[in-house]
Amino acid sequence: MTKTSTLSLLVAMAFSGGFAACSQGPTGSEEPVTSSTDQALCNQGNGKRLVPSGSRSLHLEARVRFNPLQPGADAENGRKKFGVAADLETEDTTEALFEGASVPYGGTVTSNGRSCFTCHRGAGARFGLPAPPLTDSIALTDALFTGIDADAAGDPDAMDNLNLRGLIKYRPNRFNPQRDQTDPYRKVFFWRKSIQLVNVAFNNGFLNDGRGRVMFETARGAVFSHTQTTDERFDDLFPVPTANDMEAFMFAQLSDPVLNALRDPDDPMYDTLVNDPYYTVPIFTKAQKRGKKVFDKYCYSCHNTPNVFNGLENIEALGTGQSERSVDNPGFAPPVGKFYNIGVAEANKHNLRFSEYTGGSSFSPIVLPLANEDGTTRNLTVTFDVGLAASTARSQDVGRFKVPQLRGIKDAAPYFHDNSAATLEEVVDYFDSPQYNHSADGRDYPIRLNHRQKRDLVEFLEQL
Ligand code: HEC
Ligand code: HEC
Repeated sequence: MTKTSTLSLLVAMAFSGGFAACSQGPTGSEEPVTSSTDQALCNQGNGKRLVPSGSRSLHLEARVRFNPLQPGADAENGRKKFGVAADLETEDTTEALFEGASVPYGGTVTSNGRSCFTCHRGAGARFGLPAPPLTDSIALTDALFTGIDADAAGDPDAMDNLNLRGLIKYRPNRFNPQRDQTDPYRKVFFWRKSIQLVNVAFNNGFLNDGRGRVMFETARGAVFSHTQTTDERFDDLFPVPTANDMEAFMFAQLSDPVLNALRDPDDPMYDTLVNDPYYTVPIFTKAQKRGKKVFDKYCYSCHNTPNVFNGLENIEALGTGQSERSVDNPGFAPPVGKFYNIGVAEANKHNLRFSEYTGGSSFSPIVLPLANEDGTTRNLTVTFDVGLAASTARSQDVGRFKVPQLRGIKDAAPYFHDNSAATLEEVVDYFDSPQYNHSADGRDYPIRLNHRQKRDLVEFLEQL
C-alpha cells in the first residue's frame, strides 16, 4: 500500500475485498467470514465507496459510535455470570458456570470449572492475567491449568506457552458451522495473551485482532471454547440477555469514570475530553511534556481515541439511524474498525510453533488459501500468527491487530498480543526498529527516535 492519508487508508482497508463483494460476490476461493459486515457496508454505500467526514476526531464529533449498551442490561447479573464477587477481586463461580442440558449440543454441558475470571482476574489485575510465569501467583490446581485441554487439546507446547509466556491457544473458527473439521480455517490457531478488560467499552472490534465485532460474539466464543473440549455449540445456554448483562458489567470497567462521557455527546464533559485528547493525563515534569509531544507526533496517528488511546477510526456498517444494535439480533453489523500489521507477529520473538498438533510428537503444516485484492489466491503456510486474516481470509489482513488502549499501560506488562515486549522501553525500541518501520502498515507511519525522545516517551507512557 502506498502512503496515503489516514482517511483514505481507512476506506481502503474496509473496502478492499468487501468492495468487490458489492457487485461480484466474494473474491478468491474462500468466502469471507465477514461477508455480512461487508454486505452491510455495500448496502449503505449503494455499491460505492463511503467517505466518512471529519478530521482528528472522526466519528466522535458527529455522534457516539461505540457499541451501545442494551436497554435494561443488568451489570450486577453480568458480574455474577462473569465469575467475580461484589468486591471485584475474589472469584465467585456460584452463578458463573454455563452448565445444563443443551439441544444443539445434543446432551448435557459440563463445565471444567472455568469462568471468565479464570483468565480475566479482578480489578487489581485489571481483568487480565498477571505477568508470567503464572505459577508465581496462580496454583497449578487452578482451573486455568487444569482446564488447559479445552483450548489446547493435548498440544505439548501449551503448558510452557501458558505458564512462561502467558499465552493461551485459541482456534478462531472452532465453532464456525460453515467450515468442516478438515478445513484449514477450522484448524488455524493463535497463541494470545488474555486482554485486560479495562476500557473495553471503547473498542472498535474485540480480541487482539479485532475480529470480534460485538461483545455478544466475543463472550459467546469465550463460553464455548474455554469450558469444553468438543467443538459442539450450545447457544441455548447463552441467551442474548445474559450476554447483554455481561457486556454492561465489562463496559463499566473504566480506568477513570469520567471517560464514560466519551460514550455520550450530551454529557457535559464530552467536548472537553474530545477536544483535549490528553485532558485526563497527569503531566508534570519537563520530560513528560516532551514525551507527550513525541507521542502526539508519532503514536497518536494510530492510538487516537482521545484520553483512551486505542484506535478510534471505524466506519458505521449500517447507515444512519441504525446505530442501536437490536437486542434480539446479536449478528447486527457494528462499525468496522481499522487494524494494522506492525510486524510483531512476523517477528515471532518467542519462536511460537503454528503447525497443527496431530498427536504423539507430530505436527503438520497448516496452509491457508487467502484472497488477494485482484481476486487471485495466495496459499500461505502458517509460520506466525496471521492475525485478522484467519477470520477474513484476505491477504491484506495478514498480521493485522487492533490498536490497544494505553491507559494504565505501565501496569500491563508484558506487551503486544504475544507478550513479546517485557517493558515499555522494549516497546519504544520496537517502534524505532526496522522490523516496525518495514512492516506492512508500520511503513506508512515511520518512526525514528533518538535516545532522549525514547526516554521522554517512556516517562510520558508511565503517566497514562
Ligand atoms: C482460558 C482463558 C480465558 C477465559 C476463561 C476467558 N477468556 Fe476472554 N480472553 C482470553 C484470551 C486469550 C483473549 C484474547 C483472544 C484473542 O486475541 O483471540 C481474550 C479476550 C477477551 C475479550 C476481548 C477484549 C478486548 O479488548 O478486545 C473479551 C471481551 C473477553 N475475553 C471476555 C471474556 C468473557 C466474557 C469470558 C467468560 C465468558 C472470558 N473472556 C473467558 C482468555 C480467556
Ligand atoms: C501504525 C499504527 C501504530 C502506531 C503509529 C503506533 N502503534 Fe502502538 N500499537 C499498534 C498496534 C496495531 C498494536 C498491537 C500490536 C500487537 O499486539 O501485535 C500496538 C501496541 C502498542 C502497545 C502495547 C499495548 C499492550 O497492551 O500490549 C504499546 C504500549 C504501544 N502500542 C505504544 C505505542 C507508542 C508509544 C507508539 C509511538 C512510538 C505507537 N504505539 C505507535 C499500532 C500503532
